Amino acid sequence: MTKIIFDTDPGGDDTIALLWLQSLAKQGLLELIAVTTAEGNINSKSTFINASKVLSLGGFEQVELGRGVTVKNPQAADAAHIHGMDGMGNISNNLPAAKHDFDKAVYSDELIIDKLKAYPGEITIIAVAPLSNLAAAETKSPGILKKAKEIVIMGGAFKVSGNVTTHAEFNIFYNSEAAEKVFASCNNIVVLPLDITEKLLFTPEMAEGIVRNSQSNLTQFISDLCNFMTEANLRYRQTKGNKGFLVHDGAAVAYLFYPETLLFRRAKVEIETQGKYTLGKTFFDERFTAKTDANAWVALKVDKEGLLASLLEDLKFLCRN
Ligand code: BDR
Ligand code: CA
Repeated sequence: MTKIIFDTDPGGDDTIALLWLQSLAKQGLLELIAVTTAEGNINSKSTFINASKVLSLGGFEQVELGRGVTVKNPQAADAAHIHGMDGMGNISNNLPAAKHDFDKAVYSDELIIDKLKAYPGEITIIAVAPLSNLAAAETKSPGILKKAKEIVIMGGAFKVSGNVTTHAEFNIFYNSEAAEKVFASCNNIVVLPLDITEKLLFTPEMAEGIVRNSQSNLTQFISDLCNFMTEANLRYRQTKGNKGFLVHDGAAVAYLFYPETLLFRRAKVEIETQGKYTLGKTFFDERFTAKTDANAWVALKVDKEGLLASLLEDLKFLCRN
């Protein structure tokens, strides 16, 4: 069974991705080895508490949870304007208290190192936050990321504009040096960039479909989260005026369990860490077709209807079980 570490900064779309993973785990398709939280959409204490609450919602409170490493000079402000002051649509207080203890928690980089050493070649890391934890793990234990089966990253923008600057996407821009380190460390990377994730619109109608299917704290939570995120996405022009919110991070889950919804090319992905205007840009050199030094598969096309339909079915499954 696929062993997963989920590196995340919940985050509205992170929350949907974590619920999706819990549904797939309940269906016997994966084993959630650990969740490693990161600073990004909001500070590290809030992402930890949010992840803990979402794990409890799905019945996975026993999963180990790491606290994000400290980032000294993040290049971006957080994304509370999109995800809410608590990072989770300002509704995290409606949920029962977190079951994991932030002050006693192990740091996420340590947890990544321990698990990769325990299961060399077996763990897939799904990383949908700034790459600070992964880079810190590689710095402490050089070569450790090569022990992952694959590293599946939501981040970057190749043929479309960024969402923080013209050139850069949030997860890469926030800590571009960490991203550079990760991409330089291994060649088993899969990238789900804005090119495809900005097509993934989760609408209030979809949330209503889940509520009609069954009613519980979880369905109510999904519906409330969707309403908040939809307003924020409209206000900050994330969805080009369309009603709904972008479930970027879900694309990384889709790659593993619904790969037929995505089309990839092999490339050597690099990160700009110096540019005055281009800091945090992800790129590959189009002139060369030789793939000998490639480090990643990059998704450039998506069957958005197919992907979103699978997400909805799996969320309905989780809400019923
Ligand atoms: C990414 O940035 C965050 O705000 C989202 O959670 C997602 O991981 C999209 O650029
Ligand atoms: Ca995220």
